[in-house]
This record gives sequence, structure tokens and C-alpha cells, in this order.
Amino acid sequence: MLKPIHHTFAPLADAAQCHLALSLLLHPSRQQDGKEREKLRMGLSRHTHRDCFLFSSGREALLALLRTCDFPTGSEIIVQAYTCVVVPNAIHAAKLTAIYADIEKDTLNLDLSSVESLITPRTKAIICQHTFGIPSDTERLREICNRNGLMMIEDCAHILPDAAGPSEIMSKGDAILLSFGRDKAISGVTGGAVLCGRQDLAARLQESEQQALPVPTATVRRLLLYPLFYGIARPFMGMGIGKALLALLRRYRLLVPIVTTEEKEGVQSSELHAMPPACAALAVQQLESLQKINDHRRTLVQFYLQSSADLSWPVLHGIRSDLPLQKYPLFVCGAEGIRRSLKRKNIHLSDGWTGCVVCPASADQERTGYCAGSDQKAEEVAEEILSLPTHPGMSLADARRLVAALTPFLKQ
Ligand SMILES: Cc1ncc(COP(=O)(O)O)c(C=O)c1O
Repeated sequence: MLKPIHHTFAPLADAAQCHLALSLLLHPSRQQDGKEREKLRMGLSRHTHRDCFLFSSGREALLALLRTCDFPTGSEIIVQAYTCVVVPNAIHAAKLTAIYADIEKDTLNLDLSSVESLITPRTKAIICQHTFGIPSDTERLREICNRNGLMMIEDCAHILPDAAGPSEIMSKGDAILLSFGRDKAISGVTGGAVLCGRQDLAARLQESEQQALPVPTATVRRLLLYPLFYGIARPFMGMGIGKALLALLRRYRLLVPIVTTEEKEGVQSSELHAMPPACAALAVQQLESLQKINDHRRTLVQFYLQSSADLSWPVLHGIRSDLPLQKYPLFVCGAEGIRRSLKRKNIHLSDGWTGCVVCPASADQERTGYCAGSDQKAEEVAEEILSLPTHPGMSLADARRLVAALTPFLKQ
């Protein structure tokens, strides 16, 4: 049986993470150690030259930040149309209104002329998402924010730049949002951070972090089991046993869902939780390997770019060979059918970012506040996108196998 190619089977859970997760499970006292959180905070502060505040997820970090800003109830926050449901949920949980700007197809990021047309006296902030690690035009957006007195939040859930860049990311935002979720730039299974250079916000964010509730011990145990379960089940994913094992884990609620049923219905709890020390330990381990992880992603991006050129596949203009993309997006006709066919070859390209404008497709689109038909380009992207994995579990040989399997479908 061929090794599975995938986006979502614990893509960042390598042997080192499984080993550390097991050790944390076997020595619960290490799970209480606040030192790991401080190590992560200091590592990120040093890396980004900003103060760092940790929460149990990116969505909670965003909620904490928006609350700290004290915008009047109902104030408008501009976000882009092709995004994850947890982003508008956090805005709504802060009693603010999400306003969707159109995206550009070539970057999957904010269309700045659409942003400008949406600014009103009620607008207070713009969230600039670097989708899949493709940089937004932060310089122009900074200028728009300055001109209109708006806060600029860079959503870096999908990318953590290293010494080699990309330098335009994390350079201009008043605040930066990070996620350490399971398939993000680096993973602690869960976790999130706000990075901020503004002293007025820092004191209040620190207070929010100190008041955050602990994640229940049983939940932390389930989070630590995630890399182990997938480490065991992953080789069997193309067979019945892999699927049966995961179904069993779900049935007995041994896995923590990434997006809960309530969140899919547009509701985020108003509670904030502290990042579990055990998850901080996992994230620290990956932060220490950031350069290696990003270089691996760059190698695969370069390979996909070269293959696209050789095979005349259209390339998004925003993609450059120096980018450590979270995934490599292509636009194709009949993307969903191709994903379905490739499953027979043990290639699983469903990633939750298809078939809808506010992802995943199982999220109640009406409750997100996105108005169907308002962004034609985002809706086309949702139908045509086919993303290729770049995570550390995906080798160059796997990428070659994937390109070979895709070629017959993409023949002009
Ligand atoms: C663009 C974007 N921003 C923020 C988040 C929130 O991250 P978390 O899953 O850690 O809450 C996500 C999560 O998927 C995301 O895709």
C-alpha cells in the first residue's frame, strides 16, 4: 500500500513531536510547568521583536485582542471573504461586526480597492490574512490604515516567517495573530498568540492572559493523544483499519474537534483559556525547528512551481519560490471530482478550504454574515481550488508522486 498523501492527518506530528507528547502524557507534572510557556513567549518575542501573549487558540487570541481594543459595540472589522469561520466568530464574540471585503484571485488575499470602498466611520480595524502564507500587500494596507485611523491586524495563522523572510509579513501590523493549530506553520496541537508592539494594548493583553482559565486536564490529555493516534493510524489511512480506528476515536470522543458544532453555527464562547503548558512545550520544539520546517516548505513550493511551468499549469501570481507556503494552491476545473478520484490512489487533498467562502463548508454560511453572491472571485476560488501539501510529512518523492497522479487530470 502506498504511503498516504494528505493535508490533515496530523501533518506536523513527526517522530520528535510524538515522542514529546508521549513523555508529557507519562509525566503529568511536566504538563504543569509554566516554564514551557515562558520559553515559547520569549522565543516568539525574540523572533518578532514584540510582546507576546498566549492563549489556547488563535481564535481566542483574536477575541482577547479585539476586547482589549475596546471598540464600541457593533463597530466594523473588515475581513476577507475567503477565510475560516473562527475569524468572524471571534469578531462576533467581541460584539463587533465582520464586514467581508473581496479577495484577489492571484493572492487569495484582500483586494485593497474593495477594502477602501467598505471603510465607514464605524470601521475600526482591518484583518489582513496572509492566506496559506502568500503575503498581502502590507505596505499599501498600512498606508490605508494610517490615512483612515484604523488598526491593522496581521493574521499569520498560516505562516511564521524566518530569517529568510518573507520580510513583508509581520512588518507593518499593529498586532499579529498566530495559531499553533494542527496544520499551521508550527503546531502545538492547539494554541495561539497575539504579538504586539503597542504599550497601551500590552498591559491589557497581559491582564487578559493572566485571567484566562486553564484548559481542563482531560482535554489536554486528549490533545496530547492526537499526534500519537495519527502517528499510529496514518500508515493505514488508505485501508479500512485506519478509517475504523479514527471512527472509533471520534465515537469515544478521544479527539478534540478543530471546529466545534457551536462554532460551525457561528458561536464562539466568550471565555478565554490559557495555552496549556504541554502544548507550549510541543510548539517550542517546533519553533526551534522553524528554519528547517520552512526550508522544507520552500523546497516543495519550488518543486510545484517548476512542475507547473513544465506542465503549463496556471500559477497564482502571488506565489514566489522563496515562500514557505502552508500549501500550494492551484485552480482547476472540477477540483472536487479530482479530489474524489485521487482518494483511490491514497491521496487525500480535502483540507476544509473548499466549496465555500467561509470555511469549512459545514459552517452555517448565513450566520457568518457573508452575503452569498457578494464576492464572485471568492466563490470561484472555493469551487476551483486544489491545494497541494507542503508540510514536513510530505517528502519530495511524495510530491513527485502527487504531480504524476494529477497530470492526467490537468492536461489542457
Ligand atoms: C486564517 C485563520 N486565522 C485564524 C485562525 C484561528 O486559529 P485557531 O485554529 O488556532 O483558532 C485560523 C484557523 O484555522 C485561520 O485559518
